[in-house]
Order: sequence, then C-alpha cells, then structure tokens
Amino acid sequence: TVSTQRAVWMPADVSTHWQPRSADSHKGSHGKVGIIAGSETMPGAAALTAGAAVNAGAGLTTVNIPPSVIPSVAVHVAEATYFPRDDKIETFYENKDGIAIGPGIGFDAKGRETLATLVDQFEGPLIVDADGLHVLAEMLENVRARERPLIITPHPGEMAALIDTTPGEVNRRRFEVAETFAREYGVYVVLKGPCTLVATPGGETWINDTGNAGLAKGGSGDVLTGMILAFVARYREVQPAISTAVCLHGYSADYLLERGVPAEAMTASQIVKALPDTLMAVD
Ligand code: APR
Ligand code: MG
Repeated sequence: TVSTQRAVWMPADVSTHWQPRSADSHKGSHGKVGIIAGSETMPGAAALTAGAAVNAGAGLTTVNIPPSVIPSVAVHVAEATYFPRDDKIETFYENKDGIAIGPGIGFDAKGRETLATLVDQFEGPLIVDADGLHVLAEMLENVRARERPLIITPHPGEMAALIDTTPGEVNRRRFEVAETFAREYGVYVVLKGPCTLVATPGGETWINDTGNAGLAKGGSGDVLTGMILAFVARYREVQPAISTAVCLHGYSADYLLERGVPAEAMTASQIVKALPDTLMAVD
C-alpha cells in the first residue's frame, strides 16, 4: 500500500512559508502571470480571476479574452493588460511564470486546442479550473505525460465529471478521490468545498480549515484561481503556494463575516477587495 500524509495547513504554516517582497524587487520578481478566462457571456469570471491575482501580489497580470469584452473587464481591473484571444497562444505563454485557464471560457474547439498546447508545451505551472476541467477530461494521457506542475481546482461536480462518477460519490470519498487522482496523473488536486483538500503528486494531503458559507456563491472559485496563480508564480514550492492561497481565500471570507458582512450578502468582489487586509495579517 502507498502511504499518505494528511495534515491541516494552519495559519502558522502560511506565515512560515510567506515570501515577502524585498525592498529592491521589481515587478518581474513577483511573477508574470497569464489568465485565460471570460467570454462574451461570462466576462465577470475574467475580472474576478484577474482582480484576485493582482491583489494577491502578481507582478504583471495579462488576461487572454475575446477582444469584444476587453473594455468591460478593463474597467474593473485597470492593473492588468489584455491579450486578444484570437492571437497566437505561443505569444501569450512564452514569457509567463504561471498560467491559469478556465473560468468562464465556455467550451469550443479553440479552447480545446489552447489547453492541449499548454498541457504539452507550457513550461511553468499551469492551473486548470472550471470549463477548462471539462476539456481536460479528454486529454488525460497528455496530463500524465506532462512533466511540469499541473494544478486542477475542481468543485465536487467537476471532479465527478473528470473520473466519471457522481458528485455525491466524490463527497463520500473525497480524500481517496483527490489522492488517487493526484498520484495517478502526477498533478496537484485542489478539491474544493468546506475544508478544501490539496492533494500532491507525492502523496501528501493538506486540509484547509478557513472559509464559510459566504463563499457558496458563483464567482468565489474564480477568485481562488487568481490567488493560487499569484502565489504559485512566485513561490519556489508548489504546495505551500497553493495551500497558502486556499487558506487566505477562506480567511478573507471569515474576516468579512467577523466585520458584519452576512454570509448571504457576501460577494466574490468583496473577497478580492478584502485581500489587502487579509494579507496584512500575515505579511
Ligand atoms: N464553506 C467554505 N467554503 C466554501 C463553501 C462553504 N460552505 N462553499 C463554497 N466554498 C468555497 C469552495 O471551497 C471554493 O473555494 O468557495 C469556492 C467555490 O468555488 P466553485 O465551486 O468553483 O464556484 P464558482 O466557480 O465561483 O461558481 C460556481 O461553478 O458549477 C459551476 O457553472 C457553475 O457558475 C457555477 C460555478
Ligand atoms: Mg468554479
């Protein structure tokens, strides 16, 4: 049998692994990140993912998006730059320290081709979320062959689709499901929900204990993806970066709840706006 180490990733672990900006740093020291998100009917997903990456510390954030919606997203994230989705993907990925793909992209042949290219060729850490996960299910052999870090961030429904089972079954066996997939395909699995799990290809599982039901609203997953991207692009080790992002994402929601924001009224945009306060607690 294979051994698995399971432990809670504590706020103290966040502090231990925290990588503060040095006084002489420049934007290139903090990660040039690429986000492939949003579409004509879901531009907000791109705004949330990019806003989270910027506020979580990414040095340069570039959003790959249909040109028609650039203006509407850019008013929300002035700090990001924008890359027209029709342009060559090679130009987009060549200088990136990390890429996230999936929130609100929808499903089309172009997205499938882009994802396959990134899985096969992009040499930095690649995060696949949301609509990207449904496409990834068709290229699991490419995933197995990939040598650089791949991080998937499914909610139980997306995980179920990846392994052809039901969300209920994923929830009943969530440790086993995350750990088996992580080992089998050599990827980091962020299985979301209350107490999100981070299972590593090496057989460790880190459990999160921050967050609340205020996060159970469309958009909060997109924020998490942007945060994971920002941390992974500048941390040397992948798992501490992922677990730190997951912990601080939940902590932001807890922070808002403590300050009187009812769970019902909590929004993903508020989580993004709370990041300066949240990061202040650990930095
Ligand atoms: N307690 C703590 N954390 C929670 C809770 C809870 N009760 N509910 C949700 N969360 C956290 C999850 O751990 C995760 O980090 O909120 C985030 C939700 O992420 P997603 O499920 O990916 O949600 P999101 O993508 O923002 O929106 C849902 O997914 O199924 C699709 O099309 C559907 O538009 C919908 C979208
Ligand atoms: Mg999601």
